[in-house]
Amino acid sequence: MTLATLAERVSQAGRRLAAAGIDARDAAFDAEVLARHALDWDRATYLARWREPAPAVFGDRFDRLIARRRRREPVARITGSREFWGLDIEVTPAVLVPRPESELLVETALARLGDRTARWAVADVGTGSGCLAVALARELPRARVAATDICPEALAVARRNAARHRAADRVSFHRTDLLDGLPGRFDLIVSNPPYVPDAVVGALAPEVSRHEPAAALRGGPDGLDTVRRLVAAAAGRLRAGGWLVMEIGAGQARDAADIGGRVGMRVVAAHRDLQGIPRAVVMRPGGPR
Ligand SMILES: C[S@@+](CC[C@H](N)C(=O)[O-])C[C@H]1O[C@@H](n2cnc3c(N)ncnc32)[C@H](O)[C@@H]1O
Repeated sequence: MTLATLAERVSQAGRRLAAAGIDARDAAFDAEVLARHALDWDRATYLARWREPAPAVFGDRFDRLIARRRRREPVARITGSREFWGLDIEVTPAVLVPRPESELLVETALARLGDRTARWAVADVGTGSGCLAVALARELPRARVAATDICPEALAVARRNAARHRAADRVSFHRTDLLDGLPGRFDLIVSNPPYVPDAVVGALAPEVSRHEPAAALRGGPDGLDTVRRLVAAAAGRLRAGGWLVMEIGAGQARDAADIGGRVGMRVVAAHRDLQGIPRAVVMRPGGPR
């Protein structure tokens, strides 16, 4: 059956996505995003024209995108980008799709540093798409940011994102474990490490468990393997007065404090995300409280 208008095509596609197990409200929105992607239209154009007949090129292209989404591929992976901190960030299968809650790391780091014009030395450990490194480099115009990852394909994406947002001259990229081999000390170490317990990964939404890189998710038996090593590494690499701002998973705040305490790092704040989950932990050298 040929449906007359874009609006009808999109709402039918939304129902097909809901039937594939996607929450109904998300399904409707995803269908619209994929329609705009198929048409290469911004939202204003779409809203002005959604009652018009669907253009001839639309049908097949849109159907292919919807078929991918029905297989629970994340929308950002289908469109190839996701907005983070107001920046359009390229996304590929090699990187975690940037999450809105990770913006809390940027906000927290900027608040702790205060002066945006200083020549801060910053490290972003496990940079993935480079979203944190690029956002910080944009907000701190005289800072130098060292971004690390163990995955060379992720670093290639991060490099492109730095270039796309004109931050490539101040962000360096390093294929290494945590902070290994990086010279000097840092005023700020920021990280969104893998923190999902291995046994939980398979139970996450298919968008995550099937489509996101294991190295971005798996944190060992209790989720905290990388966190432990990262906090220990950061303890020896922060300048006096420096900060570690790290993302953690639900229920990990107390463990993070214990881990810090064992290596002379004190948790000074744990900021909650919009769901009320302590998400951005701030630590600094100073031992247990
Ligand atoms: C949860 S993702 C975070 C990506 C990005 N920073 C963000 O917030 O969206 C974790 C990243 O850490 C990288 N990673 C995992 N273990 C690492 C290690 N030991 N050293 C450096 N990077 C690591 C993964 O390859 C992945 O890109």
